[in-house]
Amino acid sequence: MCKIIRKTQISESVYRLDIDAPLIANERAPGQFIILSVDDEYGERIPLTIADADPEVGSVSIIFQAVGKTTCILANMKVGDSLSAFLGPLGNPTHIEKVGHVVCVGGGIGIAPLYPIAQALKQAGNSLSVILGARSADLLLFEDEMRALTDDVIICTDDGSKGRKGLVTEPLKEFCEQANPPNQVVAIGPPIMMKFCAETTRPFKVPTLVSLNSIMIDGTGMCGGCRVTVGGETKFVCVDGPEFDGHKVDFNNLIARLNSFKDFEKTSSHSCRIDSEIKNKEK
Ligand code: FAD
Ligand code: FES
Ligand code: MG
Repeated sequence: MCKIIRKTQISESVYRLDIDAPLIANERAPGQFIILSVDDEYGERIPLTIADADPEVGSVSIIFQAVGKTTCILANMKVGDSLSAFLGPLGNPTHIEKVGHVVCVGGGIGIAPLYPIAQALKQAGNSLSVILGARSADLLLFEDEMRALTDDVIICTDDGSKGRKGLVTEPLKEFCEQANPPNQVVAIGPPIMMKFCAETTRPFKVPTLVSLNSIMIDGTGMCGGCRVTVGGETKFVCVDGPEFDGHKVDFNNLIARLNSFKDFEKTSSHSCRIDSEIKNKEK
C-alpha cells in the first residue's frame, strides 16, 4: 500500500500526486513509468509516467489528467489515502547523450513526461529548444520549469489564448528548415501530434523520438495488450519502449487499438466530480 503524501491541482482536470514509494524514487530514470491500481478487488491497472522523484524524501510524483473512471477516482483521493498497487519503475529509461541541439515538443498532458527528459538532455550538455502545445493557455503545464531550462520556449495554443495560434508542427518545421536543423527531436503528446511531428521531421532526416501511450495491462511483457508495429515488427511498449523511433512507428495502428475499448470506457459506471464541475461551469 503506497500512501499519498501530497496533492496539488495543476489545472481544471490535471493533478499532481506525490506518493510514498522510496524504492522507486531511488531507482527511477527519465522516461520510465509506474502502473497503479486504486482498488484491490475491482480496480484496473493504469500506467502513468514518473514525472519527478525525490530520493531523500522517498517520494514519486505522477501528473495525470482526469479523463475516465480510474483517473477520476485518483483525482478524488486525498492526502493519507493509499493506492492498492504502485509498481515500477517500468519501461526503459530514455537514452540520454550529448548530440548538440535538441528540440523537445510536448502536447497537453504529454508535457509532464517530457519535462524530466528535457532536464536530463540539458544536464548532458545539449542546447535545448522547447515547443509546448495545448488547447488553451489554462491547460499549459510546466511552462515556468521549461523556461528555467532554456530561453528558447515556444508556446502554441489551438485558440490563440497564449503564444502562437496553431499547431506545434509549425515551429517544428521552421527549426528543420534552418541552415542547421536540430540534431534530435523528442515529441511526447497525443498519438496524432506525435504522428505529425514525425511526418514533419521525416523529409529533413532529423531523428525523432516518441513515447507511446498504448493500452497496458500487466506492464511486464506478458499480456500483449500494448503491442505496436515499429519498422514492420511487433513490439511491446512496456518492455521494448515506451520510446521508439517516430519515423518507424505505425501510428494508424496505435490509434485504432487505443480506440478499440472506447465503448466499454464510456459505459464504465463512475460518477466523476470533475465532469460535473466542468458541466456546471459550462451552464
Ligand atoms: P478510460 O476512460 O478508461 O480511458 C481513457 C483513455 O485512456 C482511453 O481511450 C485510452 O486511450 C487510455 N487508456 C485507458 N486504459 C488504459 C490503460 N490501461 N493503459 C493505457 N492507456 C489506457 N496519462 C497521464 O495523464 N499522465 C501520464 O503521465 C501518463 N503516462 C502514461 C505513460 C504510459 C507508458 C502510457 C501507456 C499511458 C500514459 N498515460 C498518462 C495515459 C493514462 O494511462 C490513461 O489516461 C489512463 O489509463 C486513463 O484511464 P481511465 O480509466 O481514467 O480512463
Ligand atoms: Fe502487457 Fe505490455 S502491458 S505486454
Ligand atoms: Mg479505464
